[in-house]
Formats: sequence, structure tokens, C-alpha cells
Amino acid sequence: MSSISRESLRKNIIVALDVSSVDAAFDYYESLNGKVGGFKLGFEFFYSTLVNLVTNPDSKKAHEDLDLTRHFFKTLAGTPFGDVKLCDIPETVKKALQNLLKLNLLMFNVHAWGGKPMMKAARAVVDEFASANPEKPKPLLLAVTVLTSMDNNDLEDIGLPEEYRVPMVQSLAKAAYECNCDGVIASAKDTKAIREVVPDTKFKIFTPGVRLPGSAKHDQKAVTTPGEAIRNGAAGVIIGRDITGAEDPVAAVEKIIDNIIEAVNNPATA
Ligand code: C5P
Repeated sequence: MSSISRESLRKNIIVALDVSSVDAAFDYYESLNGKVGGFKLGFEFFYSTLVNLVTNPDSKKAHEDLDLTRHFFKTLAGTPFGDVKLCDIPETVKKALQNLLKLNLLMFNVHAWGGKPMMKAARAVVDEFASANPEKPKPLLLAVTVLTSMDNNDLEDIGLPEEYRVPMVQSLAKAAYECNCDGVIASAKDTKAIREVVPDTKFKIFTPGVRLPGSAKHDQKAVTTPGEAIRNGAAGVIIGRDITGAEDPVAAVEKIIDNIIEAVNNPATA
């Protein structure tokens, strides 16, 4: 990457809207739309908005939330990343996806750990959805390799010694590729190992576990800077708390872009 424009880098940043209300998600969307490449909706958003709708004793608020949720998805149509991390038997994943894709997602994920039959079932649902809806963008099917919140000790706790980490990431990525997934969600620390087994750059790597130098890591352990992630070949970085937890989320995005530009222009500074 020799010369990069600040504006083109925005599309590489996906903001994780890990919030518990549709009002909060919509507020972030309104302040950051146009300044980043997209928005991620995951467990916290999906489960809390559903539970709020069902349990909210104030029916007026429940109706407002329902209207705002509908408006939000209409506004986002074709652009959100559904971080649903499906991992179940193929039939259950198939049925879940037949519903989820109606939300007009740009991309979504499954756990590669769910195995090839599950990933193939997901692929088939996406292909059916795309043939039935040629006017809509075809959602990207991504597979999670190893969570960026897991370090070698955590893997060891579930029976995977340190030396298994890289071969496991490589096997999961290769399996995802062989099932025609569009890419993986993986730590930027694993990018090189993944490219050894899947050199095809059409197979994208998206990277969470990203922090500006000096930021709190929270529960993330395989952490890299935004610049390192992009320099290592990530198609996009998924960033939550460094943006949503910042006093000024818009300024945080600009700092992330500065960090990417610096890393790309000065490879030695990582
Ligand atoms: O706040 P933070 O930047 O750590 O958020 C990272 C986001 O990326 C979270 O929403 C998390 O669910 C998501 N994610 C992840 N690791 C994966 C896949 C998704 O951290 N392997």
C-alpha cells in the first residue's frame, strides 16, 4: 500500500454497536455514518432489543422502540454486519439464516468450529437467498477462526496446547475456504499463517481485537493496532470500545485513521 487516502480508509472501519438499546445504536449510527465503512450488530444489540420489546412494561416506549428498530434496519438495509456467530447443527443454522438474511445484511458470520457440513449449509442458504433476491447485495459469509479474546492459556484450558494454535487457525480457515466462505474473522496476529494456507486474497480477513496504542484491552487478548491489522492485510477492522467508549467517538475514528496511515507509511513503527 503506497499512497492511501484518508477517505478511502474509512471504509475499512466497522464499528461494533455493542449497546443495549436501539436509541443508543441509532445515536452512534447518526454521529458516525459517513465517517466509517459500516456497523456491526451482535448479540448484545439483538438480544437486548428483543428482550426490551417483550418485557418493557411501558407499552408506549415498546412501540416507539419497535418503530425505531424498523426504521433503523430500513436505514441500514444492505449495509450491516450481523455478528451472529452461528455454531449449531446444519439444519438449525439453515433455519436461523433463512430468517436472519431477511434483515438485508452485508455480511454475517458462523464459527468455523461448527464444521464443514454447517458452513456448507450456510453457503447454500446464502446462494438461495441471492438467487431469490437478485436486486439485493449478496451477503458475505464469514467464519470465525479463534476468538481474539482467547490467548494460549485459554486454549490450553479447553485441551489445545499452545503449539496447536496456529495449525488450528490454519485448518479452520482452510475448511472455511473449501466451503466457499467469503472470508474469516481472525486476529491480525494470525493473518500471515492464514495466507500460508489460503493465499487467495479474494478470501477476506476481517480483524477484531483492535486497539489504539495505550488503550485498555478489556477482555481482548490477541490485540493489534488498527495500523498493524490493515498492514497485515485485513480487509477491515471491527472496533467497538475504542470508539463507542471514547469521550468523542468521531475523534476516535480520526485517530484510528491516523494510526493506519502512520503504520502503512512507516512499516518499522508497527
Ligand atoms: O470493543 P471491542 O473492540 O473489543 O469489540 C470487538 C467486537 O468484535 C465485539 O463486538 C466482538 O463481539 C466482535 N468480535 C470479536 N472477536 C471475534 C468476532 C467478533 O471480538 N472473533
